[in-house]
Amino acid sequence: MEVNAIYEGDNLEILSKFPSESVDLIYLDPPFFSNRHYEVIWKDGAELRAFQDRWQGGIEHYITWMEPRLRECNRILKKTGSIYLHCDWHADAHLRILMDNIFGENNFRNEIIWHYRKWSGGWQQFQRNHDVLLFYSKTDNDKRVFNKMFMERSESTLKRFGNAKIISGYDDNGKRIPAKMSKEDSEGVPMDDVWDIGRVPPIKQMFPTQKPEPLLKRIIKASSNEGSIVLDPFCGCGTTLVVSQKLKRRWIGIDISPTACKVMARRLRQDLGVSPQIIKGKVDLKYVQKLNPFDFQNWVVVDKFLGNVSGTKSGDMGIDGVTPQISGGYPIQVKQSEGVGRNVIDNFQPAMDRVHKKKGYIVAFSFAKGAYEEVARVKNQKGITIILRTVQELIDGKVEE
Ligand SMILES: C[S@@+](CC[C@H](N)C(=O)[O-])C[C@H]1O[C@@H](n2cnc3c(N)ncnc32)[C@H](O)[C@@H]1O
Repeated sequence: MEVNAIYEGDNLEILSKFPSESVDLIYLDPPFFSNRHYEVIWKDGAELRAFQDRWQGGIEHYITWMEPRLRECNRILKKTGSIYLHCDWHADAHLRILMDNIFGENNFRNEIIWHYRKWSGGWQQFQRNHDVLLFYSKTDNDKRVFNKMFMERSESTLKRFGNAKIISGYDDNGKRIPAKMSKEDSEGVPMDDVWDIGRVPPIKQMFPTQKPEPLLKRIIKASSNEGSIVLDPFCGCGTTLVVSQKLKRRWIGIDISPTACKVMARRLRQDLGVSPQIIKGKVDLKYVQKLNPFDFQNWVVVDKFLGNVSGTKSGDMGIDGVTPQISGGYPIQVKQSEGVGRNVIDNFQPAMDRVHKKKGYIVAFSFAKGAYEEVARVKNQKGITIILRTVQELIDGKVEE
């Protein structure tokens, strides 16, 4: 297990290789069971992509998917460690029961309500303006790490008591007993489990599900110490890693999306001057089959052809990317399917005509015989070269002609 590193791949597979009781704090923010599409605008503004957060098969399917991942989290957490599972109304009730089963009811510490303001529209119910953080410790013993946190006194408390320590109780005559003032007390009142932190981070949001740094700061400060190992197995654009680094913790990020891994590495480099290593899982057919459409397109066009992906508009017109200018700027069409046939070849030609190219690539898992025949016909009759590449060929390094 490497620290200060980003692992690219499915967290289940990666976590299963980590040693038991090796991590101090886990924060995880899995895709919620939310059945909605996200539009992602990456930092360079050049890419506008759909990010899929869709689960087919209902909530049971989602919980079955989460369960082995949470079991791995439990296994690798140190006895003094804690875990915070970030969720919302879609699945929080189901996840609470699952967490109780895996971590034990005794180890349940808090259900933290993260309250934010957003305009949610619709007047048939109250606005849904909070997420839930399920906080569990690995064990119930008092050696577990928890650093007391304080919050500012409310205006009404300040008005009544000023900065004095709030009373510790009442005596027999009903008179207030002032509590002793310690250094800690002067910092405020012990933090409760409702956190009012703005949803949008002060920096420009890169990613619709990006969480604000102040939220992660609280969690990491409360449940780890300098030098502790903080793990985020659904790391997105790396907020946990950035905050851990700032707070002098060691960190490990995992994300299945190659694009997310690149974004978080860039963020760490640009914001903090840290160059993390990206450790990739084995790239085989199984790995590529599991990529979502957006990452599949990036894997083909950027990772394999070293080209550029098209914007959504030209993507819709049958061109998903182009090879580097230096090698001709040829159009690439990407099909995440098997047995691609003749019709795809026919539909690709008008797209090639539009960009005035006589050569182009189509990538798919496999092609039907008719596709190869059509490619030969188009070459003979029209002088157009269409190269069919299977995913396996790309994995084996056979890319451009
Ligand atoms: C809700 S986002 C996390 C956002 C993150 N907290 C932030 O502040 O940027 C969920 C992330 O989980 C990743 N993911 C989904 N399935 C995964 C899996 N099986 N293994 C690793 N990462 C996965 C997605 O690629 C996505 O980046």
